[in-house]
Amino acid sequence: MSLPVRRRVAVVGTGAIVSGGHLPALRAHADRTELVAAVDVDQVRLDAFRASAGERVAGFTSMSAMLDAVRPDLVLIGTPPSLHREQTVAALAAGAWVLCEKPLCLSLAEYDDIAAAEEASGAYASVIFQHRYGSGAARARALIRGGELGAPLVAHCQTTWHRDTAYYSVPWRGRWATEGGGPTMGHGIHQFDLLLHLLGEWEEIRAMAARLVHDTESEDVSTALVRFRGGALATVVNSVLSPDEVSRIRVDCADATVELTHLYGHSNDDWTYTPARHVSAERAKAWRTPVADVPSSHTAQLGVLLDAYDAGVRPPGSGAEARSTLEFAAALYKAAFTGAPVRAGAIGPGDPFYAAMHGGHSDWAPEERA
Ligand SMILES: NC(=O)c1ccc[n+]([C@@H]2O[C@H](COP(=O)([O-])OP(=O)(O)OC[C@H]3O[C@@H](n4cnc5c(N)ncnc54)[C@H](O)[C@@H]3O)[C@@H](O)[C@H]2O)c1
Repeated sequence: MSLPVRRRVAVVGTGAIVSGGHLPALRAHADRTELVAAVDVDQVRLDAFRASAGERVAGFTSMSAMLDAVRPDLVLIGTPPSLHREQTVAALAAGAWVLCEKPLCLSLAEYDDIAAAEEASGAYASVIFQHRYGSGAARARALIRGGELGAPLVAHCQTTWHRDTAYYSVPWRGRWATEGGGPTMGHGIHQFDLLLHLLGEWEEIRAMAARLVHDTESEDVSTALVRFRGGALATVVNSVLSPDEVSRIRVDCADATVELTHLYGHSNDDWTYTPARHVSAERAKAWRTPVADVPSSHTAQLGVLLDAYDAGVRPPGSGAEARSTLEFAAALYKAAFTGAPVRAGAIGPGDPFYAAMHGGHSDWAPEERA
């Protein structure tokens, strides 16, 4: 058997998520990846990262200098969100594939720039939504999409997390121009991305949002009502104000309720299947998640991306899938700011919510919503 090819990887940004999520993923896939370079504008962080990642990792304070010198196969981006579009486009232009932290960019307009750069380069840009990956999510999706649980009817998607004042003292957080939004763009996006992955295309959304506690520009809570193309109805809650933190997705199908309860990541045991009364025990037994447990993680997602790289095909979580989740966020914000329902496909060039999630509104003050 031939040995796997090792892809030459660079990381851009060496802060919390690259150190805590991407570096362990690269280590787990050491037979398929070689970390060759790291970029950070903060020399102290860069040095600390290289000290833990290994001195053979070349250090750069400029991404373009790194791309010129190293020509990596794959660039992992973990910088603040306002830099994602520009850095993703630069990596694609250098011929590298990209795996970028959520949110992939700040608006649908920015996403369409990335799509154009993909088209021009032939390389692909994928967004990290690690909760889609792993055996539990794959199993649930196959059962729901395959019709094994009956038609999806009603769903709940809940991200009720807690973030304190110190969290929002980091300058890029809580601002439209740098984070792109509040818990809708930054936190709940993981869970509603997974909801869309499970249920498919959505059709219409109505929403409310507010800033109740934090001294931020963007919301600190949002709620939405959603109709899916297949007819299912769903509620979505995105909060950073909830002392009892939980992440939950529940989908009631005609033949079973499937429920995921976790916080920042899930394993097989976090998924339950409750059969409807008319379902035989034997049929329900077959729904159990597989014995082999692949927890949701950056490691699981990186493995799927490397498989796509080896096969030369578009990776999961890129293209239309990435755009759909961003469009859902844009529609939620538009519905919340305008008070009117928003249909899928309705936000295009010329619409203020195409250019920015706030659609030109400066605040959640009540007079802004009038
Ligand atoms: N997937 C997840 O579960 C998850 C969790 C946390 C954060 N995130 C996302 O990861 C991203 C980063 O978040 P974080 O908490 O790691 O932030 P962080 O502030 O800890 O790290 C960001 C790093 O980027 C560096 N940086 C800033 N400008 C740069 C530039 N021009 N070039 C290179 N480096 C630059 C900073 O110096 C810093 O070291 C955000 O998009 C965030 O939403 C994802």
